[in-house]
Amino acid sequence: NIQFLRGLNMKRVDAYLSSLGYCSRSEAKKFLKQNEVLFFENRVFNPSTKVNHDNVLVNGEKLDSEKITILMNKPSGVICSHNDSGVLIYSLLPQRWQNRNPKISTIGRLDMDTTGAILLTDDGELNHKLTSPKKDVKKIYEVTLQNPLKGDEKEIFESGNIILNGEEKPLKPAKLTILNDKLVHLEIVEGKYHQVKRMFAYTGNKVVKLHRLEFAGFRVDDLKEGEFRVIEDKF
Ligand code: URA
Repeated sequence: NIQFLRGLNMKRVDAYLSSLGYCSRSEAKKFLKQNEVLFFENRVFNPSTKVNHDNVLVNGEKLDSEKITILMNKPSGVICSHNDSGVLIYSLLPQRWQNRNPKISTIGRLDMDTTGAILLTDDGELNHKLTSPKKDVKKIYEVTLQNPLKGDEKEIFESGNIILNGEEKPLKPAKLTILNDKLVHLEIVEGKYHQVKRMFAYTGNKVVKLHRLEFAGFRVDDLKEGEFRVIEDKF
């Protein structure tokens, strides 16, 4: 039995409870009194008890997973930042997830007025992988324009040689699909600051509505604005 437990990755139960947002480290004693925490069917009361993640039940439920990735359909009006006044995107998540440490952060950002697909994770490696400029992660936006297209936008965006104001290097080629003269889908593999709005500004137009249909293969067609689901994929 001892041999078996040695083979597991054991940590103090209060460390799990606090990093997964159930309670703070100092609240663990009270939490263990008020909630039924079982380790291999034994009730745990002592915060220093060593346990392994997969064999703990809290009020009959397994612990939240150690790494979490969430797909959200971001509503307009919420901010992708941890330190800003205003409504933060994280406030839409369950309180326990908001208490996690390491924190859940968005993978890249959408502007406050932009809606659609955004991933959130506490997995720093995944976040880095999907925001690295080298990885060419695909994003598809539905763009509503103030003025009708002029006709040369598709060619300009696909050329791979437009240089936005304040940038040094040209943008990688982007694909434009025209639905009507004020509604398009734009597929890009970069994520520069305000990129889509700046691309249309470059052509003399203005974006009046921006919705991300897809990020890294994840679409939010099944989610209403503000809704989210946990992504179980192995990345
Ligand atoms: N491009 C923008 O201009 N805004 C966004 O939110 C995303 C891409």
